[in-house]
Amino acid sequence: MKNLAFLILAVVAASAAQAADGAKLYTEKTCNACHGPEGKKPLLPTYPKLAGQNAGYAEQQMKDIKSGARNNGQTAAMKGVMHLVNDAEMKAIADYLSKVKP
Ligand code: HEC
Repeated sequence: MKNLAFLILAVVAASAAQAADGAKLYTEKTCNACHGPEGKKPLLPTYPKLAGQNAGYAEQQMKDIKSGARNNGQTAAMKGVMHLVNDAEMKAIADYLSKVKP
């Protein structure tokens, strides 16, 4: 029983830490270089703004760009950095971006 309580505490602490890290990850993993500070002002006018985007959608697009399922002339630019983020980090960044006011 003691172990179970510890496990629950650890899971809660881990998910809280992850949620808080989205903003940090966004800059640490160089996303801001192309998508701009807080995903509001992309480097090129043809690059997408990310602020306020639906979290589930954004997360899936990141996964698809990483895996190659989404692939066009512009995804090639981003695919090169996607080895820097794992599934949990993509989710944390997507959650963070969805909460930024566009
Ligand atoms: C080298 C430039 C570059 C970097 C770095 C980059 N991206 Fe992108 N990203 C793009 C481009 C260009 C697209 C549009 C791809 C397309 O046209 O399909 C895109 C698309 C996206 C999309 C889909 C947007 C939509 O509306 O469908 C998301 C979400 C995203 N990027 C998140 C990220 C995150 C998170 C990071 C950091 C881990 C990141 N990007 C790093 C250039 C970049």
